[in-house]
Amino acid sequence: MLDVAAVLEARGRVMEVARQTPLDYSYTFSERTGAEIHLKLENLQRTGSFKIRGATNRIAFLDDDERAAGVVTASAGNHAQGVALAAERAGVDAKIVMPEYAPVSKVEATRAYGAEVVLHGVNYDTAQERAHEIERAEGRTYIHAFDDERVMAGQGTIGLEIIDADPDADTVVVPVGGGGLIAGMATALKADDPETRVIGVQAEGASAMAESLQKGSRVEHETVDTIADGIAVGKPGSHTFEIVRKRVDEIVTVSDAAIARTLVDLLERSKTLVEGAGAIALAAVVEEAFDYEDDEVVVPALCGGNIDLNVLRNVITRGLVEDGRYLKIRTTLKDRPGALEALVEILADARANIYGIKHERTSLDIGVGSTDVELDLETRGHEHVARLLAELEANGYEVEVLV
Ligand SMILES: Cc1ncc(COP(=O)(O)O)c(C=O)c1O
Repeated sequence: MLDVAAVLEARGRVMEVARQTPLDYSYTFSERTGAEIHLKLENLQRTGSFKIRGATNRIAFLDDDERAAGVVTASAGNHAQGVALAAERAGVDAKIVMPEYAPVSKVEATRAYGAEVVLHGVNYDTAQERAHEIERAEGRTYIHAFDDERVMAGQGTIGLEIIDADPDADTVVVPVGGGGLIAGMATALKADDPETRVIGVQAEGASAMAESLQKGSRVEHETVDTIADGIAVGKPGSHTFEIVRKRVDEIVTVSDAAIARTLVDLLERSKTLVEGAGAIALAAVVEEAFDYEDDEVVVPALCGGNIDLNVLRNVITRGLVEDGRYLKIRTTLKDRPGALEALVEILADARANIYGIKHERTSLDIGVGSTDVELDLETRGHEHVARLLAELEANGYEVEVLV
């Protein structure tokens, strides 16, 4: 089983390509939670996530023949970029199979790091099958995203950096997909101090590791559904599962709504951009998904910042809705002059800012003499939303809340 010596050995190799990322005290989140929050800013890592660490360490183990034949893997995102850059830096040819739906930004980034991208299949499983075909046909080495001890040892170097920068850390909180990151980090952290708590976090819609731990054996989820696409994994690895079982204290889950809120808070308050999986560890602290004491030193790992800009726009909207700062409503007006003005006046008096307005009178569902109005509104929190809706109702409007 993976031991700390392997993680310590990985460090020198990893640091030839990756950078040591900052550990940053957060006033905002410390105040909000009562704990002492130190954010491990792995979103600032090269390629935008920690994956470069594991890939670099794994590739360093290739012998001359394997180096000559090249590597192959399948990934929809961060692992693709990590393997691409690690291989390029090692002078090894890389082929990366990505599902056809993979965001253009990720495909382009992977290509820019020097890998050949093969677009294949509608999902990760079919991309993976193709990658294994290439492995067999071309004699390439398959670089697993998590279930390989050399990959885990590379990811574990984040744990060493936390120990160096923050020897008093009480609890380290780590996102979990297949479990490679947490297996490596827990190995490093527990070897240094068995009292350091290691908490894993999964999305409610992709919680196979959490359930596997409860059950005592690996379970597989046929479908996964979360905005944290980096950790949308249906089944833990067999090696990672054994390590997690032994070295991780607890795995908790949080909702997509909480992930979106934390992502928006990080952006707005800490000026820190993360992807869904990068926000989930902090979301677990904010949501009190596990117990902690006042002033306990808690280190959430913000392990990735690769978010597609279209996804970011949707997540920001969702985060604003969660905070009561964005409201979309529909109502019906009499189709006569001044009807819209009367509605707008109520909104103005209530200090709701209108972002957008759609006025529809031709749809067949609307009665003749009526008109439908859809409004995008900037609001000031849940209380404001409640007051606004009550005011509209008191004035005789039937309001449907769309988001
Ligand atoms: C940003 C981010 N966080 C966390 C993880 C989880 O890593 P693991 O699959 O090793 O548990 C991933 C995996 O791709 C990721 O991209």
